[in-house]
Amino acid sequence: MLSYTQELNNDFINLNPEEVLYHFIEKYKNKIAFSTSLGIEDQVVTHIIAGINKDTRLITLDTGRLFQETYDLIEKTNARYKIGIEVFYPNTADVENMVREKGINLFYQSIENRKLCCHIRKIKPLTRALQNMEVWITGLRSEQSVTRKNNRMVEWDPSFKIIKLNPLINWSEKKVWDFINLHKIPYNTLHDKGFSSIGCLPCTRAVAPGEDIRAGRWWWENPEMKECGLHNNKK
Ligand code: ADX
Ligand code: SF4
Repeated sequence: MLSYTQELNNDFINLNPEEVLYHFIEKYKNKIAFSTSLGIEDQVVTHIIAGINKDTRLITLDTGRLFQETYDLIEKTNARYKIGIEVFYPNTADVENMVREKGINLFYQSIENRKLCCHIRKIKPLTRALQNMEVWITGLRSEQSVTRKNNRMVEWDPSFKIIKLNPLINWSEKKVWDFINLHKIPYNTLHDKGFSSIGCLPCTRAVAPGEDIRAGRWWWENPEMKECGLHNNKK
């Protein structure tokens, strides 16, 4: 599977995201799903997918700790593109047990607690959402962080055991914003208040001009540790 994805990667590396997404959506039909966090990259991908086939599965993980602005954007995006983003939730008993044992704001106490929370609120629901899927589309970009510099356009994800398609992997942040502005794509209003990368409310803060785009995510941890486990690149 690894060599298969390497070959695919060579085939698609010079195509633009529209062409790559068209090919994969046509080929994998109901076996392909896009996970969106409603970030700027994800909004670009949603725009392209809606132009190809509105029946493509679009999924989002509601951790229960998101910003109101993100919920508002889910509604706005559904209305603009006439689509229905599927919302996945964590298992109730998992969350209740975790909070009973570790406290409601456990993530600030240790990296271990933070990873546990991400596991229960994101990884497990995503595993459920990707069941029976063959391809997982994401909005990852290499430039986002040191942990993502080795990601490729098409790759095998060993954790979720699925082909992972990252159509914007080689895009710059400027290219993303230019596309958003050109097509008047709706985006999270928090971006106008200094937030660059947006996740859960307790784990996201605004960044100062010139600061790294992911500096506001889990800001109390060092950059090599800042992945929630959705994209951990273990080979
Ligand atoms: S995170 O792992 O640090 O949270 P980031 O916010 O940069 O990830 O998003 C990277 C990609 O992971 C997104 O483009 C999206 O495909 C996926 N993703 C992250 N968070 C979610 C979420 N809550 N729901 C669905 N997909 C998500
Ligand atoms: Fe929990 Fe924070 Fe991870 Fe959200 S980002 S799942 S609140 S640790």
